[in-house]
Amino acid sequence: MASPQIDVDEIVETLEQIRQRGHSAHTVFRDWVNLMLFALQDRDDPYLEIVDDYRERGDMAHPDGQRSVDLFAKAFGQLQERMAATDADVLGAVYEEYGLSSDAFGQHFTPHTVCETMAKIAGVGDENDTEDRQTVLDPACGSSRMLLVAGRKQPDALFVGQDKDPLCARMTASNCCFLNLDAYVIQGDSLTVEFQRAWQTLYSSLGGSVRELDDEEVEELHEWVTDAFENTVEGDNQPSPAQGTDTGAEERTPRVGMSVPSEQASLGAFEGSD
Ligand SMILES: C[S@@+](CC[C@H](N)C(=O)[O-])C[C@H]1O[C@@H](n2cnc3c(N)ncnc32)[C@H](O)[C@@H]1O
Repeated sequence: MASPQIDVDEIVETLEQIRQRGHSAHTVFRDWVNLMLFALQDRDDPYLEIVDDYRERGDMAHPDGQRSVDLFAKAFGQLQERMAATDADVLGAVYEEYGLSSDAFGQHFTPHTVCETMAKIAGVGDENDTEDRQTVLDPACGSSRMLLVAGRKQPDALFVGQDKDPLCARMTASNCCFLNLDAYVIQGDSLTVEFQRAWQTLYSSLGGSVRELDDEEVEELHEWVTDAFENTVEGDNQPSPAQGTDTGAEERTPRVGMSVPSEQASLGAFEGSD
């Protein structure tokens, strides 16, 4: 697939209207991502905490439709529209564009065409490889662009993304949910294998879902990932942590085990990461 030209001007303009009310670009972008992720998880309390922060700063004085909470919702709708139109990592593109105006955040992610090539080299979507369910790992996932490209090639794989940057981990959790992928998203350092928090996204024919894992589940996930890295489960069908948990979501593939090291398509490389 050719690299899509992602025009994010409309979304950036909407977020910019909020920033001009005296917030930093980083605060606006972070709050937008958090609001989306809390809404996707039906987590009212942390969602309303953010809304209250804006309310306390006079947000209700703006006319209906122009309050910051309305503009956040508008930007969410625009994001969905752009994603449907481009089939690309629009959230990451907004981050790249919006981060340019900020000293507090911003970086560039891998261009879509390069992600396509890397997924091909890693054997994602290889039709000859039918033995086990593939696991696609990006240990420095940024906004999850590589995982999304891989997800289009092989939507029934299990995806694992890790990033030490909380904002990137949250963008990845949101994106994996939007793309309706089965994924684990970890916030933590891949080099020291420290996990601070993690989310699971689940495929469903009605659309993806996302939930944050509790401490015990994060610990289980940590063990599973550590085992996978240490190559101790080769040939051993070990289900991923939450495959034994009744999450209420349907599974599009049977509960297959994974011989992770042999089937793992690792996309991430630390070269070029910050
Ligand atoms: C240039 S981005 C690449 C993102 C993505 N893989 C892509 O190609 O678009 C590098 C990412 O690596 C993350 N990173 C750097 N060192 C890391 C580490 N030790 N553990 C986890 N993430 C790390 C950064 O936070 C950043 O989001």
